[in-house]
Amino acid sequence: MSQRSEHFPVGASVTVEDLERQPYSTLARLREAEPVSWVPALGAWFITRRDLAVQAMRDAESFTVDDPRFSTAAVIGESMLSLDGEEHARHRRAFAGHFRPALVRDEYESIIADRARELVSAIAGDGIAELRTSIAAPLAVESITTFLGLSDVEPSEVLDWYRHLADAIVELTVGNEIPTASRRALDELYQRVSATLADGSSTFLTNLQDEQILHSDEVTPATAVVMFGAIETSEGMTANVLWHLLSHPEVLAAVRSDRSLVAAAIEESLRLEPAAAVIDRYTTADVEIGGVTIPERDLVTISLLGANRDPAIFASPDQFDIERQNLLQHVTFVQGPHGCIGLHLARLETAMAVEAVLDQLPDIKLDSEASTAPAGLIFRKPAAVVATWGSP
Ligand code: HEM
Repeated sequence: MSQRSEHFPVGASVTVEDLERQPYSTLARLREAEPVSWVPALGAWFITRRDLAVQAMRDAESFTVDDPRFSTAAVIGESMLSLDGEEHARHRRAFAGHFRPALVRDEYESIIADRARELVSAIAGDGIAELRTSIAAPLAVESITTFLGLSDVEPSEVLDWYRHLADAIVELTVGNEIPTASRRALDELYQRVSATLADGSSTFLTNLQDEQILHSDEVTPATAVVMFGAIETSEGMTANVLWHLLSHPEVLAAVRSDRSLVAAAIEESLRLEPAAAVIDRYTTADVEIGGVTIPERDLVTISLLGANRDPAIFASPDQFDIERQNLLQHVTFVQGPHGCIGLHLARLETAMAVEAVLDQLPDIKLDSEASTAPAGLIFRKPAAVVATWGSP
């Protein structure tokens, strides 16, 4: 056992598999004994207590995203995700106005609601479907491409770009080159964004360029970050909410009879299973946090899943309880300068999916044999949410 691990015996015993499959008891042990722990399996310091997680995510001077080891920047180029300080603020300023809650609602609610209803109508006659791939995933891809104004792009193309980007990040992380196929796919994406900019068909992209907050060569990578930030996460968020509701029939019945409860059900699901379960930072100096000194330039992983189940904040933290008074204290969308910019759009998408399911599939039930609970180390979602219903 290394010297570092001797000081953090719980962290030393953690495996990636624990964190992927059954993380709750592992996170509870860490939070109790070593809320800032060295976890060799992750090669990172790991923060699991909510107050310390919030402290780190709000302190971008000590905990930065600006580090060459972040492979996203190497693949996509510099963007909000990989900048801090003034440059980060400039990138965010370019987008912030476009994601305002009133604007998102006024411009996109009816489009997304219609699309959610169409997706549910397409399966309504079948009596059985897997809801992640038939509703959550297509709604996530189509909502963000509509939002960005890339309307002539096929969802399958977007997913292909996304897969190639993910491959490139994995390859770089393990020390390999970016695969040729990934380079080609990203070139294609960039050409499509440039062509859309040139023909002026996307109001969003045209405004973004006209505002001149971003330089012209920054618009395309920034667009890619927004697109890729939305896909996996929104799919997971909607799938997790459907899974939570269907696996708690009494809550489903309550939400069905009082639609004002949809919002609380979404927040409680976001708390219990954040679709993005961890965020990474690098220390800019030796940093003292939670009684531990983390050396300069070490990797720090903040567990949003751990913070969201902290019993100091949430009573009976593992229970799905939509009547909690402090539902909104989850940190799934992160606090501080890098807080999720797309949260209102994401909430709208999931709400529209839930409303469509409740409206169009009145006696829907989970097929629990065929369904699986949310899982994953970085991104958490169920592999399958299989549901059955009678004829509408
Ligand atoms: C419409 C959908 C979405 C869009 C367009 C979007 C976009 C973004 C962008 C551009 C950022 C970077 C902000 C910055 O660094 O300043 C971000 C951050 C983040 N988003 Fe989202 N997002 C979406 C949905 C979601 C969902 C559904 C989740 C989780 C349930 C999520 C979780 C996060 C997290 C955890 C961060 C912080 C990353 C970090 O600090 O390292 N996002 N999002």
